[in-house]
Amino acid sequence: MNTVMLTGVAGFIGSHVGEMLLERGWRIRGVDALTDTYDPAAKLRNLALLDHSPLFEFVHADLATADLRPLLDGVDAVIHLAAEPGVSKSWGTVFPTYVNRNVLSTQRLLEAVAERPVDRFVYASSSSVYGPNSGTMHESSVLAPLSPYGVSKLAGECLVGAYAQERQLSSVSLRFFSVYGPRQRPDMAIHRFVEALLDGRPAEIYGQQVQLRDFTYVEDVAAAVVGSLTASVAPGTVLNIAYGDPVAIPDVLRMVEAEIGGRLDVAQRPHRAGDTGRTHGDSSAAREVLGWVPTVDLATGLARQVAWHRALRQRPVETVAAAGPVAADVRRQVL
Ligand SMILES: NC(=O)c1ccc[n+]([C@@H]2O[C@H](COP(=O)([O-])OP(=O)(O)OC[C@H]3O[C@@H](n4cnc5c(N)ncnc54)[C@H](O)[C@@H]3O)[C@@H](O)[C@H]2O)c1
Repeated sequence: MNTVMLTGVAGFIGSHVGEMLLERGWRIRGVDALTDTYDPAAKLRNLALLDHSPLFEFVHADLATADLRPLLDGVDAVIHLAAEPGVSKSWGTVFPTYVNRNVLSTQRLLEAVAERPVDRFVYASSSSVYGPNSGTMHESSVLAPLSPYGVSKLAGECLVGAYAQERQLSSVSLRFFSVYGPRQRPDMAIHRFVEALLDGRPAEIYGQQVQLRDFTYVEDVAAAVVGSLTASVAPGTVLNIAYGDPVAIPDVLRMVEAEIGGRLDVAQRPHRAGDTGRTHGDSSAAREVLGWVPTVDLATGLARQVAWHRALRQRPVETVAAAGPVAADVRRQVL
């Protein structure tokens, strides 16, 4: 087994998984629609980190519409990260986008895999599938998503479970908790805090209650994804991927200030529907099944993310995005 189809390859987590796969000698068929959920130039920059490798092939395609069977030719395993992210913006008239990108795309991919079987299917699920819970979230905890996004991710996870049960799919679904690190999506909290302080503007904080998040470093998450390709697991396995130490948002602000230097003003905004008070994942099952142990604490990971933000400000986007042949070619199509 040595060729992986990696969907969402141009995204935040996908680009880190891609780098780790290349380091370990896997061949990648990376698939991404380069959606405009955030600036596609950032996705091209991510792609440029991968497309220097002869082991990397990029396919610019939308999983909701493309003929997926030919894309599975010669593929031994699938890592399915492509999705429409974002909890608070998933309400209202945009929901069809979540259905298309998170539910329909997953179902179409699973159907294609049923016709062209693979040895392993790894699905990116989310802590958003859990209901409000002040305690630790175990894989057996109540599933009651608080947002349409969470509902769409749980629907995808249930589809993977159905194909595992009834169509002999060897699957692993990983529930990621608040992933952060270099290349983090611009809508996510730490990215917003760092950019606000570097710009000298206030950071927006939502809700009166102090929220806690179980921040998990992106390379630890990538290690869990790559480890899931070859681990010996029962079909339909579901695992939490969490650092396991929830941190209050005001404490994160202080850590960002300490790392960058300076004082971050806060603009207090009303509670956003779908935001849970606290996340805390128990990852002992991942430790047992994958041998997965997170290695990067928040202070270390935050320093790496801040370094990335600073470096990005010193380089014009164009020079980076044009660095590799695939990125340069796709750039002409999407920008
Ligand atoms: N970042 C987190 O904290 C977090 C937490 C829990 C779960 N997840 C899940 O991890 C995965 C990756 O998240 P991310 O933060 O890297 O997001 P991201 O938006 O950076 O990456 C997702 C990628 O998928 C692509 N995509 C979306 N719909 C597509 C389609 N129909 N066809 C082809 N490509 C498509 C996008 O263009 C994008 O590049 C998602 O499934 C997300 O739900 C992320």
